[in-house]
Amino acid sequence: MPTEYSDNDIISTSFDDPGEDDSRLVDTGFIPGDDAGDNPLRPKTLDDYIGQTSVKENLKVYIEASKARQEPLDHVLLYGPPGLGKTTLAGIIAHEMGVGFRITSGPAIERPGDLAAILSALTPGDVLFIDECHRMSRAVEEILYPAMEDFAIDIITGKGQGAMSYHLPLPKFTLVGATTRAGRISAPLRDRFGVTLRLELYTPEDLALIIRRSAGILGAAIDHDGSLELASRSRGTPRIANRLIKRVRDFAQVAGEGVITEEIARHALDRLGIDELGLDKIDRMLLESIIRFYGGGPVGLETLAAATGEEAVTIEDVYEPYLMQIGFLTRTPRGRCVTRQAYLHLGLTPPPDAVGAQSNLFDL
Ligand code: ADE
Repeated sequence: MPTEYSDNDIISTSFDDPGEDDSRLVDTGFIPGDDAGDNPLRPKTLDDYIGQTSVKENLKVYIEASKARQEPLDHVLLYGPPGLGKTTLAGIIAHEMGVGFRITSGPAIERPGDLAAILSALTPGDVLFIDECHRMSRAVEEILYPAMEDFAIDIITGKGQGAMSYHLPLPKFTLVGATTRAGRISAPLRDRFGVTLRLELYTPEDLALIIRRSAGILGAAIDHDGSLELASRSRGTPRIANRLIKRVRDFAQVAGEGVITEEIARHALDRLGIDELGLDKIDRMLLESIIRFYGGGPVGLETLAAATGEEAVTIEDVYEPYLMQIGFLTRTPRGRCVTRQAYLHLGLTPPPDAVGAQSNLFDL
């Protein structure tokens, strides 16, 4: 059975995420070619996968146990901010289980019949990965429930008196669903996953390891301090780190001696408008808007979205997790507040009543 996956395994994929801005270097959105199935930077085994230690250790146990029982792995729900490796992890699960890997996404499955076609084409044991699984319609979800629970679907053809119902058994398979927030998934779907794993933003140390691994694969020379500098500006996100390496390598080649050093990384990232903490102009604009228009907050998400022209969902999924992790933004019941630390980072004087950074934990 195939254990490698390529673009051929991508059944259908939607790249139409509203608010996605392909020109943004620190964008965490899926970009065709950047993260497709044949990306050589993607680790293929759990041992090669850096960070997310508890997720990895638990998965190892579940995989070993189900292989010993010669059963497919229970359905897995992966959630966390974009760009942390949910697709990668799903591919690793298929590889470790020694089964085929099929990829699709919630918005790409438009009709129940689309999902029925995908499910009936699976081979026994396959891992079916559904990205953005919170974006399936109710009618599509309803096909998935018996498929997940009983490995069967009921198909109705025709209308009125001519309607016919068929019960179609399916091969046993593992559904791996991915979403940015578990709370976005309907309760009946969430309840059908046997394993739920939350991915966290990576520490700079883990990201530096990922960067050194990726640089090795790309044949880019990087020293220890260069990798740490790049890591500390990559917003805890491997997808961003892997994209930035390629741009910084260009500066190393043209403006340096071919090696990504701390100095080259700083120079390149300053030129790209990414500051020491990985913030770009949109992050700064968000923080400055809250300060300028709402006295530093609290301000509601929808109001902030209207004031800045960004989609509320993009602010929530893409910008906020990192701004909250570094303690620049807090969520209160009355809305978002900019912290004292953010004022100082922006070179502004915090008002006496500015909130201080709280914990690094954020509510996904
Ligand atoms: N590339 C992207 N994510 C990675 C990870 N967690 N470990 C190793 N390489 C990666």
